[in-house]
Amino acid sequence: MKHVVVLTGAGISAESGLGTFRDEGGLWDKHKIEDVATKEAFQKNPLLVLDFYNIRRKQLLNSSPNNAHFALNKLTEKYKLSIITQNIDDLHERSGSENVVHLHGKLRESRSTISNKIYSIEGSELNVGDYCENGGQLRPNVVWFGELVPNMDIAIQKVKQASVFVIIGTSLNVFPAATLIDYAINAKRVIIIDPNSSYYDGVEIIYEKATQAVPKLVDELLALV
Ligand code: APR
Repeated sequence: MKHVVVLTGAGISAESGLGTFRDEGGLWDKHKIEDVATKEAFQKNPLLVLDFYNIRRKQLLNSSPNNAHFALNKLTEKYKLSIITQNIDDLHERSGSENVVHLHGKLRESRSTISNKIYSIEGSELNVGDYCENGGQLRPNVVWFGELVPNMDIAIQKVKQASVFVIIGTSLNVFPAATLIDYAINAKRVIIIDPNSSYYDGVEIIYEKATQAVPKLVDELLALV
């Protein structure tokens, strides 16, 4: 069975109402990365950091997967499907996707700052004073800038197996995630879906929004088998 590997970024969740980072008016227009998305920021001002993620978690709880998330799952009718995401939302899972590889963590999980044990966050809030059973402050289970990306090796192995590699809604600005495109050495097709893509290097680019382009691409791939 041929293997379709998909790498997603914030753009696939944009039409579910979740903000992207580097589009005009995006999250990094409103916040400084060094204030809300680094370990040093959390040590310096945990209230500000936890609030940044509490706001995004509230938005996530009020959002739903869109047609692009749902369409990807149809590929399993005729392909092996692996989804790798940079997103910390759970919209892929809530659309029915399984075994999603999260490179940058999960917004609805917390992690102990002393044992690294992972917990799910019930509701939308994670606050100062929320401790693990050993008395350690809980932090968002997300990968902050400067931290290791634990699932990168798994992601690389999957991309190496891809016969089709589809990249949806990412500016490919953040490393090491952006290097995944270099591992698609066995892919017959590398396809980028992004209305504003600035990529160039010999790949197919579909300059459309995810909810328009993904269902069409899925139908095209299913018709080939
Ligand atoms: N459909 C498809 N693509 C879209 C859509 C849409 N409806 N709307 C926006 N895009 C594209 C934008 O053109 C842009 O190229 O999605 C991309 C979003 O890029 P970023 O905002 O940089 O988000 P992303 O690439 O996921 O960022 C990667 O950076 O800040 C870190 O950890 C954070 O995981 C994030 C990482």
